[in-house]
Amino acid sequence: MEHATELMRVAKQVVALGKGIIAADESTATCQKRFDAVGVPCIEDNRRAYREVIVTAPHLEDYVSGIIFYDETIRQSTASGEPFSEVLAEKGMLPGIKVDLGAKELALHPGEKVTEGLDGLRDRLAEYVALGAKFAKWRAVIEIGKDIPSMACIRANAHAMARYAALCQEAGIVPIVEPEVLIEGDHTIERCREATASTLKSTFDELAGQDVLLEGMILKASMVIAGKKAAKQSTPKEVAEYTVRCLKESVPAALAGVVFLSGGQGDEQATENLDEMNRIGKTPWPLTFSYSRAIQNPVLKLWAQNPSANVIKAQETLLFRAKMCSLASQGKYSAEMEKQRPY
Ligand code: 13P
Repeated sequence: MEHATELMRVAKQVVALGKGIIAADESTATCQKRFDAVGVPCIEDNRRAYREVIVTAPHLEDYVSGIIFYDETIRQSTASGEPFSEVLAEKGMLPGIKVDLGAKELALHPGEKVTEGLDGLRDRLAEYVALGAKFAKWRAVIEIGKDIPSMACIRANAHAMARYAALCQEAGIVPIVEPEVLIEGDHTIERCREATASTLKSTFDELAGQDVLLEGMILKASMVIAGKKAAKQSTPKEVAEYTVRCLKESVPAALAGVVFLSGGQGDEQATENLDEMNRIGKTPWPLTFSYSRAIQNPVLKLWAQNPSANVIKAQETLLFRAKMCSLASQGKYSAEMEKQRPY
């Protein structure tokens, strides 16, 4: 494969010891929801100003290997005119780009979704390479409910992810493949394990079918956990044991690394669960973070209170959460440390 050496190098850099990813790739619709919740108008200049807070946070590179951008964001610059991707590159962080076009209704399968975005993807990837992107992300959504997920939904998403991953590697961009099993619902952890295991197996079958280089890609996984509305919530120990076992059974050892989404878990909960997994240890791949909400929630809240005055406070909060996640990715976090929260 033409770009194999570079793909393997970048994939390793993404999951380097003590490092993880910040997902700042909310689509405009998702950003609208997040901004509405804190009372900030979701206009382009506010989105740009908020992303600048993240991108320019001092010392973020100590804990963060890369930031995932949305199409609008990768084209934006700081107030002083420096493109965000150049700011990252100067600090030794990697710019990433979300390239899927969202989850749409899956034909003949009410309540299930398939992620779109393959048409024209080769050309879009070429443009993102020119804009500095080193890795990409594609998110598939698997929902647990009555009689779902169906194999039709799992297979359609797995196939699309494999074709996306192949196009990325052809373009010299490391694909992050994200089959998210949603936390919404009242299902048990056991049902989440079943859905996650079939999703992962199908995904890696399809990736093999498209000859995707596993050493040059990253899995973005959801944790195996009981549904948010389940009567019995999962403890960090349960989440860690179920998730690590499920990954070991379904994910080939050759993969460069696994990063997790937070999926609506609280920031401390997502940190603690990651920490527990890394305390179990002995996985063939690094296990680290690629959180959006579990890192950004307290940052956005603080910034929104006073966008012109609270930039430094918001950045200190961002650095603190990133540091906690970094420690968790090494099994060195403890809930006690939360007492040192700056605000
Ligand atoms: P959350 O951590 O908020 O789940 O977001 C991660 C992500 O990138 C979802 O695609």
